[in-house]
Amino acid sequence: MTRALTIAAAVASLALTAGCGQPTFSQAQTLGGVSIDARTLNRGEELYVLNCYACHGMEGDGNGPAAPGLRPPPRNFKQGFYKFAVTIDEEDEGNTLPRDEDLLRIIKGGLHGTPMWPWDLQDSEIVKIIHYLKTFSPRWTKNTPGKAVELGEDPWKGKEAEGRTEGKRVYHAVARCWSCHPSYATKDEFFKYTNNPPENDARNDFYSAELKNSGAMLALEGGKEREVKVLPPDFLMQPVRSIYEVSDVYRVVATGVGGAAMPGFPLGPKDGWALAHYVWELIEKEGTKAGVDAKTALTSQPEWKPPAPPPPPQVPLFNPDGTPQLNPDGTPVTGAAPAPAADPAAAGIAAPPAAPGAPSTTTPAAAPAAAPAPSLAHR
Ligand code: HEC
Ligand code: HEC
Repeated sequence: MTRALTIAAAVASLALTAGCGQPTFSQAQTLGGVSIDARTLNRGEELYVLNCYACHGMEGDGNGPAAPGLRPPPRNFKQGFYKFAVTIDEEDEGNTLPRDEDLLRIIKGGLHGTPMWPWDLQDSEIVKIIHYLKTFSPRWTKNTPGKAVELGEDPWKGKEAEGRTEGKRVYHAVARCWSCHPSYATKDEFFKYTNNPPENDARNDFYSAELKNSGAMLALEGGKEREVKVLPPDFLMQPVRSIYEVSDVYRVVATGVGGAAMPGFPLGPKDGWALAHYVWELIEKEGTKAGVDAKTALTSQPEWKPPAPPPPPQVPLFNPDGTPQLNPDGTPVTGAAPAPAADPAAAGIAAPPAAPGAPSTTTPAAAPAAAPAPSLAHR
């Protein structure tokens, strides 16, 4: 509430001064490879001052009057560095300039769980602000935006449930998203997907997230800087920033999150869309009882025990005299193969009769009775 008031007051005082005096721009500028006329930029500046400056600052440096104490800090547009509005570019290592559509989507949708609200302005107004934002950073005069993520056709359309099952496998076994985000598989499933005993994994506590450096620097007092750390969200428990529908998951996975926080995963449509459906289902549970229940079920599992070794192969059993052991109905008696003998030459399994007198596990009397393991013959 107090914060909202501070912002409102700051906006009001600036709104009075904005628009007075000389317009800032008198000629067109080339931004991101496109020429933007002065009128658009001047209108963008006005709208910026009305709506955005309180947090992002007059200089676009993220130090507006309402910024102190905001976490995460408002973006510094002078760096020309974006986290969620990102594009694909082979050369620029995940730090490409966004397209206007990407910025528009994010400014309209807001960044959930942060002070960056959804903005209910007309698209044409937001686009003018977007052009103005670009004047803060020299990156926009030098570079052009990267490529859009091609969403293509969703191969799981109409069979989303199948997609989610496959997505769970991709999440755990292929892309290993749990190396930063939590895992959402039971300990048994985790073992099945990764072939890694859960207790042995490098990530000791894989039901919680690992704090990561974001690559973004936060200016501190006295000219010092500190790298902003970010926690990869636990999709069941924390809001995601820029995900408004399932295709946004596909996009974020393809591009990654700008900076060092999360790399892009070029998974292609089949795995990529399966993963998107799976993660979207988790995201939809965030803030609900179903989400809390799912999380509780995962974190309250008993200690993991390796699965029981497979039962020993069943082989026909023989009497010491070499004749097959038979059940009363005449079918052969089967049982676990005798343990290999110390002498490797005698280690052949199910070798018919052991030499008479040799120690035998197959004493005629004991075998049929002492065969608790289900034998094939009894099925
Ligand atoms: C109440 C404070 C506040 C106001 C007002 C505000 N923002 Fe933000 N904005 C933020 C914060 C905080 C972040 C950083 C969120 C994060 O890093 O997760 C942000 C991030 C952004 C980003 C970065 C998106 C990305 O992909 O990295 C853009 C672009 C942006 N804001 C544009 C705007 C525009 C345009 C306006 C005005 C229409 C505006 N903001 C108003 C707080 C604000
Ligand atoms: C190297 C660590 C790392 C890996 C691996 C990783 N992520 Fe992330 N991810 C992050 C971090 C950190 C963030 C949070 C960024 C922030 O909010 O500033 C994030 C955010 C996200 C978001 C939310 C984006 C938003 O708009 O808030 C989604 C969805 C996501 N990751 C999905 C995935 C999926 C699916 C995988 C596996 C393909 C994956 N991540 C692998 C670190 C990682």
